[in-house]
Amino acid sequence: MSLVFPRPNTNPFHGKKEKRMMAEVNASPLKHFVTAKKKINGIFEQLGAYIKESDSFLEDAYRSEELDPVTTEEQVQDVRGYLAKVAGIGEVLARRHMKVVFFGRTSNGKSSVINAMLCDKVLPSGIGHTTNCFLRVEGTDGNEAFLLTEGSEERKSIKTVNQLAHALHQDEDLDAGSLVCVMWPKAKCALLRDDLVLLDSPGIDVTTELDSWIDKFCLDADVFVLVANSESTLMQTEKSFFHKVNERLSSPNIFILNNRWDASASEPEYMEEVRRQHMDRCTNFLVDELGLVDRAQASDRIFFVSAKEVLQARMQKAQGMPEAGGALAEGFQARMFEFQNFERRFEECISQSAVKTKFEQHTVRAKQISEALRRIMDSVHIAAQDVCLLLVTRFRICRPIYCLETKEDRQDRLEFIDKQLDLLTMDCKAKIKKITEEVERQVSNAMAEEIRKLHVLVDDFHMDFHPSLVVLKVYKNELHRHIEEGLGKNMSERCSTSITNALQATQTDMIDGLKPLLPSPVREQVDKLVPRQCFSLSYDLACDKLCSDFQEDIGFHFSLGWTMLVNRFLGPKNTRRALMGYNDQVPRPMALTPVSTSMPPFPQSSMTQEELMVSMVTGLASLTSRTSMGVLVVGGVIWKAVGWRLIALSVGLYGLLYIYERLTWTTKAKERVFKRQFVDYASEKLQLIVSYTGSNCSHQVQQELAGVFAQLCQQVDITRQNLEDEISHMNNKIEQLDSLQSKAKLLRNKAGWLDSELNMFTQQYLLHST
Ligand code: GTP
Ligand code: MG
Repeated sequence: MSLVFPRPNTNPFHGKKEKRMMAEVNASPLKHFVTAKKKINGIFEQLGAYIKESDSFLEDAYRSEELDPVTTEEQVQDVRGYLAKVAGIGEVLARRHMKVVFFGRTSNGKSSVINAMLCDKVLPSGIGHTTNCFLRVEGTDGNEAFLLTEGSEERKSIKTVNQLAHALHQDEDLDAGSLVCVMWPKAKCALLRDDLVLLDSPGIDVTTELDSWIDKFCLDADVFVLVANSESTLMQTEKSFFHKVNERLSSPNIFILNNRWDASASEPEYMEEVRRQHMDRCTNFLVDELGLVDRAQASDRIFFVSAKEVLQARMQKAQGMPEAGGALAEGFQARMFEFQNFERRFEECISQSAVKTKFEQHTVRAKQISEALRRIMDSVHIAAQDVCLLLVTRFRICRPIYCLETKEDRQDRLEFIDKQLDLLTMDCKAKIKKITEEVERQVSNAMAEEIRKLHVLVDDFHMDFHPSLVVLKVYKNELHRHIEEGLGKNMSERCSTSITNALQATQTDMIDGLKPLLPSPVREQVDKLVPRQCFSLSYDLACDKLCSDFQEDIGFHFSLGWTMLVNRFLGPKNTRRALMGYNDQVPRPMALTPVSTSMPPFPQSSMTQEELMVSMVTGLASLTSRTSMGVLVVGGVIWKAVGWRLIALSVGLYGLLYIYERLTWTTKAKERVFKRQFVDYASEKLQLIVSYTGSNCSHQVQQELAGVFAQLCQQVDITRQNLEDEISHMNNKIEQLDSLQSKAKLLRNKAGWLDSELNMFTQQYLLHST
């Protein structure tokens, strides 16, 4: 067998995998091609999957509507182009095999050499022109051999070589330039398992179509074997054919087999001489004429063999018979050894050559593609990084207060804003409280002041006065209105400016406090928002209702009259009680709790004195009114004491005074009295509502400020919400960009890895020659 030869260990690889590969290479040089093919196919499969992944990744990134473009249409197209290209190359690579073609003149033993190599009678051989078309022997996985003819899918089953010969001769369509595939079970032959295809040809001396043969069958051949006949010399036909091959292909690998060397055994005395002559001629042909190898290497390309013997020996061995049995000529072992030597050299040569010619170009292409993809992924990675950076920068410029570095920072920022807002709310509440208290104080003071000056306001009221009930009613109404207006005006003159100023100051404070929490466009809006329409306090005194109970007393009262005297002595209230005899009235409890704080309690001490006087005078009055007798007695006593002149003078004066007072009791005087009484009454009543008005006004101010503050807070809330949305949206984008980046990085690294795989492949199979 050809596979038993030990080979020098030239494999540069170490480790388990390498050892296994080394063992395989040792087993057959053809395995070099087989493993290389497996390897490069694997790389191309990975490259294909990688490009597919990259393609969908770029497509997604390109189509993404949310993100700014990080890739270009050109890149997407490029990657799609690579996908098609790599798929095409992958298919070609999967079908790659080593091809050896056998040429020579008719009956030199081409078919016999092939059979010897395959260790079986696969191809018909015989005397005369046997092979009438190109026969391609290829391995098939099944157990049955079959034929495939050009342009037909039909499988013609063949059991024996005779059947094959018969089938070939039966087919009238076949000419010398046509091709028949002999599909031979791989199980039967080790060579065919290793992707080797052998091509038998008709004798080159029977055709004139050599050029078309080269075009059709030789361009993808890795090795050419010229089967020459050692019984004759190398013919011109053979030489000129290989000249043509050499012209068409660059440095073809050519082996020369001088077949039928067994014949030399019959003339051993000339054998060495003949061998030398053949050797010289063949060497000259390969070295000088074709210029393919060095003279030193030529001996590795020229062999002296006997295909017939080798085949016979191998078939016998396969049947369990001794190899050298039967009628074998002298020197068989040497010829057998030489054939095996040829096989080894041939296998080494073809696998080396095929790996180079069939994979090198594609390896280079694959490297270019992976490099291009690496560059694309690099640019996508950088673009995603840039977009991300731009996004963050833009956000920072637009939202300086919300500027974000990391998720945690942003969370802190939001918490800070919330805290700030809480502090501001507290601050504003305190401010509002302060200003409302201030307003209450101011309004109360102003009102007290106004009540003190109420008489001025009442004096300013001018309208026709008449004591009649109808006129009085109108007069009162108008007076109420006048006071209402006047008081309102005066109060606002006193307070409004300072209150409005304080109010505005507080509002401005609030805005200034909240402004930093708002983005600049909203800030302008807020500036427009405040100051709002001018705020004015409404005092709402309701004078008419307040004074509706006012009862004037504009009847004539003589100043020295009994009532007036008592009045002057006791005060108007007690007078009425005294004169109307309120004896039976239930005594007022001493410790009377005042109902309203605004109403000052009566002083207790004066009340008891007055009570005493009232009872005294009441007693006196009842005495005088009841007993006229008493009067006469008293009158008589006085008469006697002072004399009648003085009495008459006094009575006269008294009468004159009465007349004077009676005459001066005009409408004007009545109006004056009315006004005085009204002022007293209204002052007392207004005094009661001082604190109410104060708190009413402060409430208004508080409402106003709370409204403004609520509006501001709402703005902050809206802004905060918007920003939160914006942040989460941006965060989303950044996350997407992050994953895009890492994916691009991953793909870039993958391309790098594929590149290193290709480099390793180049190192292992294309640069080193084993
Ligand atoms: P064509 O197909 O007709 O072109 O011829 P071929 O080159 O294929 O030759 P083939 O193998 O058919 O062999 C022709 C004849 O030579 C056969 O009868 C073989 O038995 C015989 N033959 C082939 N090789 C040897 C050999 O090494 N020694 C001897 N003595 N005869 C051989
Ligand atoms: Mg033949």
